[in-house]
Amino acid sequence: MKRIAVLTSGGDAPGMNAAIRSVVRTGIEKGWEVYGIYRGYAGLLTGSAVSLGLRDVSGIIQLGGTLLGSSRSPEFRTEEGLQKALNFLNQQGIEGLAVIGGNGSQAGAHALSLKGFPVVGVASTIDNDLYGSETTLGVDTALNIALEAIDRLKVTASSHQRAILVEVMGRDCGYLALMTGIAGGAETIILPEAETNPEEVAKELREAYQRGKSHALVVVAEGAYYNARRLEQYFQEHRELGFELRITILGYVQRGGTPSAFDRLLGTRFGYAATDCLARGEHGVLIGLLQGKIAVTPLSEVVSKKKPLDLSLRKMAQILAK
Ligand code: F6P
Repeated sequence: MKRIAVLTSGGDAPGMNAAIRSVVRTGIEKGWEVYGIYRGYAGLLTGSAVSLGLRDVSGIIQLGGTLLGSSRSPEFRTEEGLQKALNFLNQQGIEGLAVIGGNGSQAGAHALSLKGFPVVGVASTIDNDLYGSETTLGVDTALNIALEAIDRLKVTASSHQRAILVEVMGRDCGYLALMTGIAGGAETIILPEAETNPEEVAKELREAYQRGKSHALVVVAEGAYYNARRLEQYFQEHRELGFELRITILGYVQRGGTPSAFDRLLGTRFGYAATDCLARGEHGVLIGLLQGKIAVTPLSEVVSKKKPLDLSLRKMAQILAK
């Protein structure tokens, strides 16, 4: 192999820059030329690629976001789009590709791989919903950002004896909400994976009020049917909670943070392992973390299997909320 490329795709995640830096420097160490593709798969369609040298990735390990930019490309998902991307890779003499991203991005990587192109995925999403990696790149930072916000919200909630519904990201996966709720000491956690009875939630909040709590915190996953707005509406129409109610939707602040030490290290290890995989001729796989170690999982499994959420942790959180 003489020339490889790297791209970041889907929602940006803190630590992506560490992974780019690692792919570029490891590739150069192997004597290869490393191209950066701009704006994810869209860049393969517009021919936006540039050769990256050692100095081009200097000073980025501590930066959130992605130096290469990212996108979600509907065109790439079509047969014509895929073919156009392959033509571009072949024209450029690129012989291997590292795809740093989450579920949609790894589905794209799998599609390229089925066409015979050597691709290695790097598990990266704040949603932590990717099969093949117990922890994905970016979720640690996102979790810490959500917790910092919650610590602040608890202070103001206590001053006014309010209940706050905090909605966190995660798409259809409740991981971020579950972990934020446990570590933030939430009274209740609402997840897409578990049915929610709003009457039950109202009862829990009323009981917390009657026990003399100065505030109550409900962490809600954006993908739950009863998201923050629906719950707010339900409570306004149906229930007296004791507490006054306010909602906060954290949204994109969870994505834009400075990567934690954990994510810088993980991005670095993932990028190194992905480049090594390409060097060994092992492709059509995802680099992830399983039981604390770098793990290599076939993309065919990654795109067809769902990572389960450990709902026993929610039960623990309920007991501890007393
Ligand atoms: O997948 C990461 C994520 O931040 C999800 O948590 C969220 O639902 C989604 O991306 C938002 O997507 P977009 O950046 O396209 O608005």
